[in-house]
Amino acid sequence: MINVQNISMQYGPTLALDQVSFTVKQGEILGLLGPNGAGKSTLMKILTTFICPLSGSAKVGGFDVVEHPLKARELVGYLPETVPLYSDMRVDEYITFVAEARGLAGKKLEERTNYVREACGLTPVWKHGINELSKGFRQRVGIAQAIIHDPKVLILDEPTNGLDPLQIIGIRKLIRGMAQSKTIIFSSHILQEVEAIADRIVIIHEGRIVAQGTRDELTTLGGITGGKKPSLEELFISFLSAKKG
Ligand SMILES: Nc1ncnc2c1ncn2[C@@H]1O[C@H](COP(=O)(O)OP(=O)(O)OP(=O)(O)O)[C@@H](O)[C@H]1O
Ligand SMILES: [Mg+2]
Repeated sequence: MINVQNISMQYGPTLALDQVSFTVKQGEILGLLGPNGAGKSTLMKILTTFICPLSGSAKVGGFDVVEHPLKARELVGYLPETVPLYSDMRVDEYITFVAEARGLAGKKLEERTNYVREACGLTPVWKHGINELSKGFRQRVGIAQAIIHDPKVLILDEPTNGLDPLQIIGIRKLIRGMAQSKTIIFSSHILQEVEAIADRIVIIHEGRIVAQGTRDELTTLGGITGGKKPSLEELFISFLSAKKG
């Protein structure tokens, strides 16, 4: 469903991505894990056609993101790192606006709007102005606009950022629940979160993939010996320091 081949991206002198390659199969959840500045958001912006890569190719649902950006966009729901909300709108108005922009109308529009209101816990603020919302509620609105059109592919940049513990659990469940019918990439620097949600993990550091695979494959790759199974934290530190050395 998603195929990334040798993608590189440069901002001025900064090489943000360096020959990144991976694939994500239909129905799979890929967790993108990496420290601040690793290149996670840059990769997601390329996959959602917001920026063009310097070199390499990326396909979403068979559509090349540079050659057929509109086709690729149609398939994708995207939660950016900073959610672009219209603060002078109410939550219900904004969600309806996005739904209409995505081509929904009539009964389908009503059905999807009701679904995201429930699924994202927006009922208490449904008629509130976006400018009054707390950070966590803004994030929930961001998730709602990403899934409103029931996209085949979801790209979520730090979806649980700013949420309270209960809501984190809710959003994790929501993501896992959607995996049966969708292909999902999400980023996080919370190791437990990636472990809890992802089927496969890509660890990215300074623009390069330093390890990828299932949790068990990472354990094997990590080569940490001595008794019990290493934690993802131990593996993460080991992969990051191996890259530097
Ligand atoms: N618009 C930009 N102009 C210049 N440099 C940028 C720009 N956006 C990102 N970068 C640089 O590219 C690199 C990768 O940034 P990116 O935002 O993709 O990292 P990230 O993994 O999402 O980090 P974080 O966990 O902090 O969100 C960093 O060195 C960053 O400073
Ligand atoms: Mg980021």
